[in-house]
Amino acid sequence: MTLETIDLAQAAPSVSAEAVAIGAHARRSFQPLPRPDLSWTPAVEAATAHLYARVSKVIPPVEWPFHAPYVKAINDLKKVRNAVILAHNYQTPEIYNCVADYVGDSLQLAKMAAASEADVIVQGGVHFMAETSKVLNPAKTVLIPDSQAGCSLAESITAADIRALRAQYPGVPIVAYVNTSAEVKAEVDICCTSSNAVKVVESLGVERVIMAPDRYLAENVAAQTSVKIIAWHGACEVHERFTAEEIQTYRAHHPGLTVIAHPECPREVVEVSDFSGSTAAMIDYVRTKKPARVLLVTECSMSDNVAAETTGTQFVRPCNFCPHMKRITLPRILDSLLEMREEVVIDPALATRARRSVQRMIDLG
Ligand code: 13P
Ligand code: SF4
Repeated sequence: MTLETIDLAQAAPSVSAEAVAIGAHARRSFQPLPRPDLSWTPAVEAATAHLYARVSKVIPPVEWPFHAPYVKAINDLKKVRNAVILAHNYQTPEIYNCVADYVGDSLQLAKMAAASEADVIVQGGVHFMAETSKVLNPAKTVLIPDSQAGCSLAESITAADIRALRAQYPGVPIVAYVNTSAEVKAEVDICCTSSNAVKVVESLGVERVIMAPDRYLAENVAAQTSVKIIAWHGACEVHERFTAEEIQTYRAHHPGLTVIAHPECPREVVEVSDFSGSTAAMIDYVRTKKPARVLLVTECSMSDNVAAETTGTQFVRPCNFCPHMKRITLPRILDSLLEMREEVVIDPALATRARRSVQRMIDLG
């Protein structure tokens, strides 16, 4: 493995702050709709019974009357607005299973956004994901139910940082994780996600590549390729907290445990795991290998979402919570569809430049 970590030590503006500015001037001509009745009634219970069946393993019956009126109202409103909801695998079970039209990891969501024919895309995820949807499908109205849903990785690097890297390493291609702002995507050579990072790095056909902003993803990629990786110093605040010691303690207490870690985890955690892959690859592993006992070393809702559909696997559930993903809730999705906010607006010239690096990744297949 060849890995070098760089630190230009520049203060990065918060992506959340940029997100507010984007949302603030972005209203379009859709009319706000009146708030529906959100009472728990026999009609709501009957209309949502098939959806409760999907989540009954992870949402207690006593909680369903709080979710169901929102679930019904959102599903009705999607038809009125000709909207689809794209939900990341870290969304809570009532969103993931009951109102989402498409679910997936970052790469799958980007592809779905590019292919969507709906008038409106509501992003069940964080702000960089909504920006990626807008970049890939600029004619659509893209809504993020809470524009403050940021990401510690996206906030760790700016477009100015990328320009400084270019000056420091002339001629070395720059790969940006999709967990970055549109401004950063516009400056880099190509994007990657956790599911295709090694392939993207090796597709460039060079000896050295800069990877930004996740230092742990860079480290985990460096372990799988002979390409020298120069890494930025960002980290996911959710995954960096896991330790190898913690994993070994779980193994000691749960004999026969299969450990599956996301590549945003530190290298030492991935090294003591049985498998590492994107959130979609982690789900696929459980579906196909059907381990008797599994520990998903990632964000909390993943275990809930996989457990909801799985029989015969026991989930050991230490997890870390992503506060940004959890800003997206059923009430906020409903408000988003009623009031058509917050709309993601990206300067068309910037979007064209950002699309180039995202599309280059998608075109790799
Ligand atoms: P993937 O779903 O692409 O693996 O990414 C995980 C993540 O942290 C997204 O914020
Ligand atoms: Fe960002 Fe980590 Fe949250 Fe994903 S889990 S949105 S990488 S902070």
